[in-house]
Amino acid sequence: MSGPVTYELRENIGIITVNNPPVNALSQAVRAGLSECLKEALNDSSAEAVIVTGGGRTFMAGADISEFGKPTMDPDLNSVIFEYEDSNKPTIAALHGTPLGGGLEVSMGCQYRVANSKTLLGLPEVKLGLLPGAGGTQRLPRLVGPELALEMITSGNPIPAEKAMEEGLVSEIYNNVSHEELIDNAIIFAKKILTNNTHPKSRERTEKISNISPDIFDNAIKKITPRLRGRKGPLRCIEAVRGAVDLNFEEGIKNERDLFKLCHDSDESEALIHSFFSERMANKIPGMDKDTPLRPINKAVVIGCGTMGGGIAMSFVNSGIPVSIIETTSEFLDKGMNIIKNNYAATVSKGRLSQKNMDKRMSLLTPTLDWDVIKEADIVIEAVFEEMEIKKEIFTKIDNLAKEGAILASNTSTLDIDEIADATNRPEEVVGTHFFSPANVMKLLEIVRGSRTKLDILATLMSLAKKIKKVGIIAGNCDGFVGNRMFHQYVMQAHLLVEEGATPEQVDSVAENWGWAMGPFAVNDLAGNDVGWLIRKRHKAENYYEGKKYASDVADRLCELGRFGQKAGKGFYKYDPKTRKRESDPEVHKIIEDVRREKGVNPREISDDEILSRLHGALINEGTRILEEGHAFRASDIDVCYVNGYGFAAHRGGPMWQADKIGVNKVAKEINNHRNADNLSWPESKLINQLEESNGKLSEFIPDTSNPSKRS
Ligand code: 3HC
Repeated sequence: MSGPVTYELRENIGIITVNNPPVNALSQAVRAGLSECLKEALNDSSAEAVIVTGGGRTFMAGADISEFGKPTMDPDLNSVIFEYEDSNKPTIAALHGTPLGGGLEVSMGCQYRVANSKTLLGLPEVKLGLLPGAGGTQRLPRLVGPELALEMITSGNPIPAEKAMEEGLVSEIYNNVSHEELIDNAIIFAKKILTNNTHPKSRERTEKISNISPDIFDNAIKKITPRLRGRKGPLRCIEAVRGAVDLNFEEGIKNERDLFKLCHDSDESEALIHSFFSERMANKIPGMDKDTPLRPINKAVVIGCGTMGGGIAMSFVNSGIPVSIIETTSEFLDKGMNIIKNNYAATVSKGRLSQKNMDKRMSLLTPTLDWDVIKEADIVIEAVFEEMEIKKEIFTKIDNLAKEGAILASNTSTLDIDEIADATNRPEEVVGTHFFSPANVMKLLEIVRGSRTKLDILATLMSLAKKIKKVGIIAGNCDGFVGNRMFHQYVMQAHLLVEEGATPEQVDSVAENWGWAMGPFAVNDLAGNDVGWLIRKRHKAENYYEGKKYASDVADRLCELGRFGQKAGKGFYKYDPKTRKRESDPEVHKIIEDVRREKGVNPREISDDEILSRLHGALINEGTRILEEGHAFRASDIDVCYVNGYGFAAHRGGPMWQADKIGVNKVAKEINNHRNADNLSWPESKLINQLEESNGKLSEFIPDTSNPSKRS
């Protein structure tokens, strides 16, 4: 038969193969094909057992997410799974790649599962604000016990095949076999089990769900609550699994269905699905044919072994890419290498990395004073002092040594990439790679596009970001790029709110209760208040603040007192030296009052609504300015940046998504009201006013990115 699912007979075993690239998602056509092919197998008198498998790189990796929110089309996944479970010929799922979500649920409907040893099995629905809705919350506890099921379903993280076998989820694993060999082994397995008369249905298994203490559910709730930040999905996952223990299978399935519907219809799920597709959309570079070959990155050089350089080098070796690190003196090299070593050793002592893996990673790092290593590198990343003249000197040197086709990258967080590129004879090979500190931990990578940077470099770096487990976005070469440019406006509003009458505690708690990982003042303290202070001093010397509002008197005062934040034990808050917990500090409130008095500000009560409206309005306003200037390819890239780099709650989608959700016209009115009250701190965005008039959406706006050179 034609279509994405095919049936064939081999050695008297029916083989059903799903071919729906890239990940064999369970679209309507796949569900229908699975059902049809099973009928064919059952009608085929020569077929004694049925193997279901996925063609290409994976077994089915889940329901087709793009179908969510649309009218459901028959057959539904649950019915198809029951057909496999009730089959009168034994059904065996032959797994490879990533059997996830609905895919794993199909396999649990089969009576047996066998797998390639590299397979990762999981139920990641919670990451999309959902719960497994095709029997997963009922069959997984029956197969592996409720404790592991809770862990897998509430974290969404997959387990390796070996663990799945230990826990009884798969019957056999085959060491790193090809797909052909997987099927050969599955056929041998099928013949073996044909000698049994009983073929266990997952739903009829009860041995692992009997005599379960209710404590495990209470403990799961306790464990997850501090990480919820307002999310409901994980709690619903727990309730669904509880149903597997407390209810019979039919009632448990109904309970799962009802809870799934609540999740499916929630804003939380809509936002998380937006985040999923936005991260993938960020890889698409306008004007770049997706078949254009990418540059190989097999060897890297990092210049500078300070905090940033060291963290960047760690990200590379963590993914198996060898790195040479260049420094100016052996003292600096030794110091940097020791920090890296201690960093890994701490992870080993916490049991999160094996000594063997640490040794492997360290062996991929080569500290050196010899610049000639650049000759061999596929990418050179400069991570030295944020000083234009030094960077230019370094880039001229790199240009003289690097081979043809090497990518020349700067980790600058503020400087003009085009000016750096001018120091070379190949400005089109120069790009910004703005890592966030600590670079080995933080997920975001802003790839900064100079006016001449070649498109294939951007695509290569997006792919590299994925390889080194970062989430990349492309940003234009404007002041602060995308993330920090918007953050600057957001923090300015936070500081103004405090000047006008709010407290740092109020602003932070409003932000955190809304879902931010940390409020703006807690972030200032974490990042170090001295960083902004230095920049402000430079800006003051350059008359940058002329005609603008100055919002940082309190922050300046704190810095003058050495209150640089967490590292000094005090900043906007004071920190308990042992627990590092923040506490209010009367000294800070006194400084705030002094500043208000000196500036003649009569403090007023500020509502939580105003705080949110101004914090988010500042982000959205600057985000739309970035779009209208062509410094981002699309609104969703900005969302990806904020969710992955700044602690914006993923289940709130991102600032631009929020604007569309609330309605751009409503947001624009609020921003205009704020501007009318204070025209010095709200730069004008033409785009937001246009969209207000046309009732448009930011997600539908296509920026003109053809001339990204103007630096604003
Ligand atoms: N539905 C629709 N499209 C999907 C998809 C899915 N479940 N999973 C991946 N895709 C698409 C991606 O959007 C991407 O499209 P693009 O090429 O146009 O950008 C393409 O497949 C490749 O995806 P990745 O770039 O993510 O490929 P990777 O190889 O890096 O990762 C993966 C593969 C691990 C399968 C990853 O895509 C993934 O985690 N997918 C989501 C899995 C998931 O959440 N499954 C559960 C779905 S909900 C469910 O099953 C409900 C059920 O319980 C009823």
